[in-house]
Amino acid sequence: MIEPPRPLGRHPGWPASLGPLRVAAGLVAVRGPRLWDGGAWSRIRLRDRDHLERWEPTAPGTWEDRNATLAWPGQWSSLRALARRGMTLPFVITVDGQFAGQVTVGNVIRGSLCSAWVGYWVASHVVGGGVAPASVALVVDHAFMMAGLHRIEATVRPENKASLRVLEKLGFREEGLFRRYLDVAGGWRDHLCLALTTEDVPDGLVNRLLATGRATIPQ
Ligand SMILES: CC(C)(COP(=O)(O)OP(=O)(O)OC[C@H]1O[C@@H](n2cnc3c(N)ncnc32)[C@H](O)[C@@H]1OP(=O)(O)O)[C@@H](O)C(=O)NCCC(=O)NCCS
Repeated sequence: MIEPPRPLGRHPGWPASLGPLRVAAGLVAVRGPRLWDGGAWSRIRLRDRDHLERWEPTAPGTWEDRNATLAWPGQWSSLRALARRGMTLPFVITVDGQFAGQVTVGNVIRGSLCSAWVGYWVASHVVGGGVAPASVALVVDHAFMMAGLHRIEATVRPENKASLRVLEKLGFREEGLFRRYLDVAGGWRDHLCLALTTEDVPDGLVNRLLATGRATIPQ
């Protein structure tokens, strides 16, 4: 039987702060979102519209309005509410202590599925620096080892080569193509589905990054 989500309080694996790992861009860590992240979040997202918008779900309103500092408290409070009910693990990414993106485990389903999706974005000034692989590795290991999930999937537009590369580095398995799956940048877009289950990574994704020299643990 699937247990109904608890209305308030903590659930396994939340709250959490994870890392740091050292990658080319700097020291990467993840933590829960805070109300005062709004200024940095908005500054980066307004600057990075060209980098982000074509990969993100279509939403009402203008980019400027949706990503204004004033839009953050609403986002923060709904992420916090979902996290408290055990439905989401929402993390902010920091590089050298500064806000640099987000990685979210969403649609957490327990019972006999124990499954969720992972989504992520990083600021344009750190792309290519290994930030997304390190953040996703930290969060997926946590979701498997502390939050009790069994499967994590990521859905990516076939055109999004950078994102596919992130998942390839981490060893996600391609499982198929979802036709007209998600409304992204104004249209229903095909998405590749990639996934991992706990059996695929008995030693964890962080160890996989360490073993391939893509990250180190700071002394
Ligand atoms: C996809 C994304 C998260 C990758 O994050 P990242 O921290 O740059 O990841 P990596 O450093 O591992 O780089 C991944 C690949 O991006 C490409 N890349 C490298 N430098 C780049 C640059 N300056 N500009 C664009 N892409 C670059 C490379 O192919 C790289 O693979 P490589 O390391 O084998 O060369 C980031 O580009 C992003 O936020 N994109 C916009 C939002 C998005 O697409 N989210 C995912 C939706 S499914």
